[in-house]
This record gives sequence, C-alpha cells and structure tokens, in this order.
Amino acid sequence: MPDFPPLQVDFNKPIMAGNENAYMSEAIAAGKLSGDGPFTRKANALLEQQLGVPKALLTTSCTHALEMFAILLGIQPGDEVIIPSFTFVSTVNAFVLRGAKPVFADIRPDTLNLDEKQLEAKITSRTKAIVPVHYAGVGCEMDAILEIAHRNNAAVVEDNAHGLFGRYKGRYLGTFGVMAAQSFHETKNFTCGEGGALLINDPALIERAEIVREKGTNRSRFFRGQVDKYTWVDIGSSYLPSELLAAFLYAQLEQRQKIQADRQKVWNFYFDKLKEWALAHEVVLPYVPSYCDQAYHMFYMLLPTLELRQGLIRHLRQHGIESVFHYLPLHLSDMGKRFGGRTGDCPVTERVSDQLVRLPFHNALTSAEQERVVETILGYDF
Ligand SMILES: Cc1ncc(COP(=O)(O)O)c(C=O)c1O
Repeated sequence: MPDFPPLQVDFNKPIMAGNENAYMSEAIAAGKLSGDGPFTRKANALLEQQLGVPKALLTTSCTHALEMFAILLGIQPGDEVIIPSFTFVSTVNAFVLRGAKPVFADIRPDTLNLDEKQLEAKITSRTKAIVPVHYAGVGCEMDAILEIAHRNNAAVVEDNAHGLFGRYKGRYLGTFGVMAAQSFHETKNFTCGEGGALLINDPALIERAEIVREKGTNRSRFFRGQVDKYTWVDIGSSYLPSELLAAFLYAQLEQRQKIQADRQKVWNFYFDKLKEWALAHEVVLPYVPSYCDQAYHMFYMLLPTLELRQGLIRHLRQHGIESVFHYLPLHLSDMGKRFGGRTGDCPVTERVSDQLVRLPFHNALTSAEQERVVETILGYDF
C-alpha cells in the first residue's frame, strides 16, 4: 500500500438533514419500533403523493425491492430477464435467485443507460422482464423501452436506485414500469443507512406486494381490520424496515427540495469548472438529454484510458481526496461468465468501466472542498 496522507475530502458522508433525532426519539417514545408504524406510513404517503404512484412501500433495501420484483412477476427457472451489464450486482441477483437467466445488454455511450436499440435482438419467447437502470439519475429512453416491451409482452421494472425525483419528459422516474425500486443506502441523496422502497404502478400487484413484504402473511390486511386473523398465504420474506429507520428517512425526505438544490449546485460547479480542462484532455463529462431532469445523484468523468483513470484516482488520493470507480461489467464477473458472458459482448460497458471515475459528492460537501477537488484535477496534467 502506498503511503497516502490522511483523507481530507471524503467521497461520501451521510449527514443529518433536519429532524432525524427528533423523529427517532418520537418513535422510541411511542413504544413501537417494528415496521409499518406512523413514520413508515408517512414516508410511503410522501413518496406516493410526490411521485403520483398508486403505492409506495418502504423496504429494507433496494436489493430487497428488486427481489420483490422477481417474486411479484412470478419469475420461474428458465425465464429470461434483460439487464444492463453496467449496473450493481443486486439488479441481476434478484432475478437469478428465482432461477432466471440474465441476458446482458450493453449501454449507450452517451448516458451510460441501457441501449434501447439492442433490446429487440435480445428478446426471445422466454423474456419476462426488461430492467432499465437510470444511471446517475438520468432517465433511460423510456418511450422506446416501453414500446418494445409492450409489443413483446415483457414487463418493465425500473431500478431507480439513483434516480429519485429525476424526470424523463416531465414524468418522474420510477413511475414508468409496473414497479420501481429505490435505494436509501448511505451513498444515496436521501438515506437511512440501509433502506429502500418498492413503488407499485400496477394496482393489481399491491395486495400481493404487501403479503410478500410481510413474510408471506396477510398481516397488513389484519392490521387494517380486513381479516380477523393473519396467516401464511404466499411466499415472502421480511422486507419491511424498522420505524427507527423510517423516522430517520422521513426527516431526510422532508428536506428534499433543499437537498436536491444543494446537490444541483455541486454538480453545476464541477461541470462548469472542469469543462475546458475536459475538452483539452479528451475527458468526457456526463451527458444529460434536454428532456431529462436528472436527480443529481453523482458526478462522474470518463478518462481516455484505464491507466489515466487509475492515475487520477491516485493523484487525488495523494492530495487527500477520495474518488472511486464504478461497476465492473457483470457479464465478465465470475457469475456472469457462468451465464455465458464473454469479453466483447458489451464493448461500451467494458470500455466505460475502465474509464469512469466518480468525484466526491454528498450533501455536506463544502465550497472549499469542491474547489480543492477541482484544483487538484486541474493539476493532473497528461
Ligand atoms: C443501480 C443500483 N441498484 C441497486 C443497488 C442496491 O441498493 P441497496 O444498497 O439499497 O440494496 C445499488 C447500490 O448502490 C445500485 O447502484
């Protein structure tokens, strides 16, 4: 390990946004810390009202919301699910857990989102679902994806881990597919440490989703007085978070306007200060189509080569700044290869995975820290 100075600018730092302590104390005082209490209901309602979705259910993680997709879609061994290779492992694992075969698609070189032009060729009679991932909170080409899915009788389910409050053509991400999964992991714009949400746009799925999330029981109906006892009615697991987490999260969601505005400023600062340097050094900055309002989840750059990307990460670290790469191609992972993945299958993913670096980006990043990051990058000459 090289001898680096202490870290001075963290890549990520979760912070309190306002009423977290007060709301957690309130939950403790109310004497109910298990799931689906008042703060869970408030957070669900806030998401439903703000996004306009029929149902939002907090979950223990985005990973678990994705696992619920696979159960609710009735995925069976041998079914195929089309997934970008450039995504987090949970997007694919959730379906593989139920026996599905992942079919990896490449990404667009501009937005790094699922390349909709590749879908048609990947669809077979066994295709059950297509999973767009709105990378960095910039919308995928949803018009084309929905049209192709509809024509081929495949469900669209959105991995919107990065994209809460982002929009595509004026409509919120997470409201296009039959379901969407959100993440409230500590690296996300809004957090409770570990957490997520399932957004349900098809009302026919709501009742079963409540059952699957409650260990396969009809406990939610029991609490609403709709049945006089609750029992095991389906498969399921424990996917509901504690009230303490919901209380923390609700305080964060209450501050959504300020959090998003602050993050927008950081993103714009990086973009404005780095664009000339990027142009001169053949570094690519993020592209956001005019019809997308991004969620300001991250700021990334694509360096010309792997060596230069690694060099920049090292250069920043030598100056006390933490930066990270993202996503190794899933089709080339040990598991991906077991499903037949080979070098060259997804060339854009393979290239971008070598080139991409993410800069420090969180809700407490100070102006001085942002300036320091930019100055240090400008000092990386090649
Ligand atoms: C695209 C994507 N999907 C899913 C996840 C998993 O989220 P969680 O940690 O909430 O399970 C992540 C994690 O960062 C992600 O980037």
